[in-house]
Order: sequence, then C-alpha cells, then structure tokens
Amino acid sequence: MINEIKEKIKKILENKYGINLNVEEPKDLKMGDLAVPVFPIVKIKRCPLPEVAKEVGNYIIDNVKEVKKVNIIGGFVNLVLSKEEMSKEILIKILNDGSNYGTNKINGEVVCLDYSSPNIAKSFSIGHLRSTIIGNSLKLIYQKLGYKTIAINYLGDWGTQFGKMIVAYLKWGDKEKIAKDPINEMTNLYVKFHEEAKLNPELDEEARQAFRKCELGDKEYLALWSYIREESLKESKQIYDLLGVTFDSYNGEAFYNDKMDGIVNELEEKKLTEIDNKALIVRFKNNMPPALIKRSDGGSLYITRDLAALFYRKNEYKFNKILYVVGNEQKLHFEQIKEIVRMLGYDFADNIYHIGFGLYLTNGKKMSTRQGGVVKLYDVLMKAIDLAKLEIDNKNKELENKEEVAKKVGIASVLFNDLKNQRELDIEFDLNSCVKFEGNTGPYLLYSGVRIASILKNKEYNLEFNLDLFNKDIYYEIVRLLANFPTILNKAMEDNAPSHIAKYLLNLCATFNKFYAQEKINAEDELVRNTNFALINAIRIVLNEGLRLLGISYVDEM
Ligand code: ARG
Repeated sequence: MINEIKEKIKKILENKYGINLNVEEPKDLKMGDLAVPVFPIVKIKRCPLPEVAKEVGNYIIDNVKEVKKVNIIGGFVNLVLSKEEMSKEILIKILNDGSNYGTNKINGEVVCLDYSSPNIAKSFSIGHLRSTIIGNSLKLIYQKLGYKTIAINYLGDWGTQFGKMIVAYLKWGDKEKIAKDPINEMTNLYVKFHEEAKLNPELDEEARQAFRKCELGDKEYLALWSYIREESLKESKQIYDLLGVTFDSYNGEAFYNDKMDGIVNELEEKKLTEIDNKALIVRFKNNMPPALIKRSDGGSLYITRDLAALFYRKNEYKFNKILYVVGNEQKLHFEQIKEIVRMLGYDFADNIYHIGFGLYLTNGKKMSTRQGGVVKLYDVLMKAIDLAKLEIDNKNKELENKEEVAKKVGIASVLFNDLKNQRELDIEFDLNSCVKFEGNTGPYLLYSGVRIASILKNKEYNLEFNLDLFNKDIYYEIVRLLANFPTILNKAMEDNAPSHIAKYLLNLCATFNKFYAQEKINAEDELVRNTNFALINAIRIVLNEGLRLLGISYVDEM
C-alpha cells in the first residue's frame, strides 16, 4: 500500500520537475509516513529551500488524496498519510478482487518445478513428503504471480536400486506374497537386500550388473521393472490424491535412458571429460569433487540422467527458471550440474535453483525408510486424520460430515507443520502437537477461519464505512497486514520460501483474534457494524487465499 503511494508521488514529481526522487520511509515515524528530499529540486529551480519545500508539499497534498498532512523539516517534506483513505482503498480493492487479490497478470515466463520425485520400488517415504509439500506450494505461488508452471515428478525409476530390487526379488521374492501386497513386500525385500549386502558386499556388484542388463534392454528384467514401477506409482497416487497434489509430467529417470548420448557427446566434444580408471568423469576447477558421468562398464549415473533431463526440459518447455525441490543432502549434486552447464557455455546455469530442505526428525533423530524403522507416509497421513477426528470429537461432537472435515484438518496439520518452518532447517515431526487447535498450527488457522465464517454467516455488508475507526490501532494494524499480502507473496517467491506466507497467516489470525476479543463486532451502530463485517470479510479472503497457496483447503465448520 505504502509502496503504491510512494510510486504515485515519485511519478507526479517526476512529471512536474523532471527528476526521479527517492521517496523514503523516515526512521522516526513520528515525523511522518514518507519523506521527500527536496535538495535536488532546489538545485534545478535555483530557489530558496523553504519556498521549494512549500511548493512541493502543497503540490503533493493537492494531487495525492492519501496524503493528509505535510511537515517540513530541514531539507525534507514529511508526509502523514490518511489512515482513513488508505484503509478505504485497500478494503474496497480486496472486497472487489476477492481471491484474485494479489494475483499478477500472466507474464509469459515459464518455471519448471521438479518435486516429489519418489524412488519407485521403495515405499513412498516421509522423506519425499517435504519435497511434495514445498514444491506444490511453490507451484501455486508462481502461478499466482503470473508464471506458467510445469510440475514435474521426476520419478526415481531407474538406477542401481532397481538392480537391488531385481536381485532381491529373484533371490528371496515370494511371488504370491508380492502379488497380495506388492509395495510392502518389495519394501521388505529392499530392506533385506541392505542387511544382506552388509554381510556380503558382492551383492552390490550383482545389483549393478542386474541394472546394467536393464539399461541394455533385457526383456525379462524390463518386464519386472515395469511391474514394480506401476505398483509403486499406485501407492504414490493415493498420497497425491490425499494431498491434492498434481503434476504435468511423470517423466522419471528411465525416460532418459535413451537420451543421454547427446549430452555425453557434447561434454566430450567440448573436451570437458577425462578417463579415470576406465570411467568417464568431469573435473572441476574449484575444489568440488569430480562428477562421474559413465561407469567403467558404460553404465549411466544419477547425474548423467539429470543432465539429459535438464537439456530435454530446456528444449521442451523453454523454461526461464528451473527449481529442484530436493533435500539439502543433494546440494553438491546440483552444484555440479550447474557448474557443468556453465562449463558447457550456457548462461541458463544461473536459472537453475536447488531448493534444499532439512530432514524430519523424531526425538532429534532422522526418520528413515531404510534398514528397518520404516515409516510409510500414507499411514502417517491417515494417523494425522484420525488424530484430527479425535480433536474434533472433543470440541464439536455434533459436527456434520466429520469425516470430510477431519481429512482436511489432518492434512492441513501436516502441511502447515512443514511450511511454517524455514525450509533449510530440520523439523521435529510430532503429529500430536501439529493437530492441536491451539498454538502455531494448521488447525489454529482453520479454526480462526471457522470463527470468521460463523461471524459472517447470513450477514450482508456494503462498501460504506465509518472511516474514523481506522484511526484506532487495531483496525489500522489489520489494514496494514492485509495491504502487505502482495508484498509477502513476492517475498515468498523471491526466496522460494512458502514459510513467509505461513508466518504471515499466523500473524493475521493472531491479529484478527485480538480484534475479535477487543471489539464488539456486531455493534449497535449500523455503519460500525458494516465496517466490521467488511473488514472481517477481507480477512477471510486473504486467509483463504493464503491457505490455498500452501496447499491447504479451508473449512467453514470444524
Ligand atoms: N529420486 C531422487 C531421490 O529421492 C530425487 C530426485 C530429485 N530430482 C532430480 N532431478 N534429481 O533422491
């Protein structure tokens, strides 16, 4: 809001005096909300400072209706803004725009987002939940701000782990058991492989060879691969349905099996590779460890497939930016990719972003899917929903469609518990505390929304306000927060940090709850009442839209 007025003032002064002035926000707000330095104009006009300051002040007052008062102090014209005018403008804007408030026009730019990307053949683990949640929210934020997004689920459906699966399947697999419960059985087999390989390291070599056979197109192995992939995908899709997450492409690593020659040849032609122990590697000038591009047996690696995928996407989607939402532990991998792109001479290296994130911890320790301690994400989500149901039972036994509401509340708990944190950090994952209706939780936000919905139920309002109210601190505090929403969205996009939105919503709800405790909403005076309802409506619009951008659906009752 302030920014728009700043721009307005800059523009009228530029038109009048032909110079671009720096309209500032004074450190001491007692002086005013904005300050215009007039020395540059004095220089041009060659008139005494007081005269110029007076002229500038009057000119602004006459032309910018949001400016209420001018204080001239030294070389500055300090401006006091009218809370009434500002509030009226912003409220009318939000109420008219509705959920489009803060939405930018389509800007023609394309952003590819690579997220979720679970490893097929293993159960969809809680480890991939963060990527799914953060990636989905970023997609929604970029869309809101005018970008075309391409959501890519780069399935880990290729690589040595498939060799491991195949070896385990052939050695210990019980076909009947597997047919009954494919994913569980395969997860068990995978765990068993790791246990056995500790005792018998030759198994790892066997797995490499099995995968090599897949790469070379062995029919029997590929049929097995395809079966495992299909079954795993079914499980992942159940989870995506629960979370309401969608993708534009499921092209995973396997898709690039026959698309790697181009990039490998280019690396060789540009003389960026070396042979090391029969393997093909790229060395870097800085002290990054070299990247292995081809194994001594000719097999490809994770980074080889990622490079092929990157160039394929560049070609296919003509992206302006690509975001890889992948855990912090793969930082080096993405630095290597960026550096290779740079060495190849492409400046889009600068448009490649690794959006890293920390781990989920339970009691300070990493949650893991390998070697026992298996945590299945689907079960975790179901448990969150069950816990939400218990909470609802305690608070509102008579609630209709409890199942539906519990599902939304449970999912919101998990989503918000993740997104409220700065993504780079590790997060303690404790379902019991994140489904609570009190505290900085998803259900707390939903509950504030429910309170709002019940206040507004069957209430009409119009755009006639008692503007005097906005001189009260609590009213103006809310208006300022609401006005700041678009700025927060842009910050969230710039930092690729949905947590800015999450924290903002907590603040908005806390301020609303303070307002609710402090003011009589259903006031006797008609104009006051109407102003209150309009203000609360605007809060509802921003809250629901903010939640949507985090991937959370609001509820009207809970
Ligand atoms: N499947 C990988 C893993 O679980 C993540 C893939 C991330 N995306 C990428 N383009 N490398 O570790």
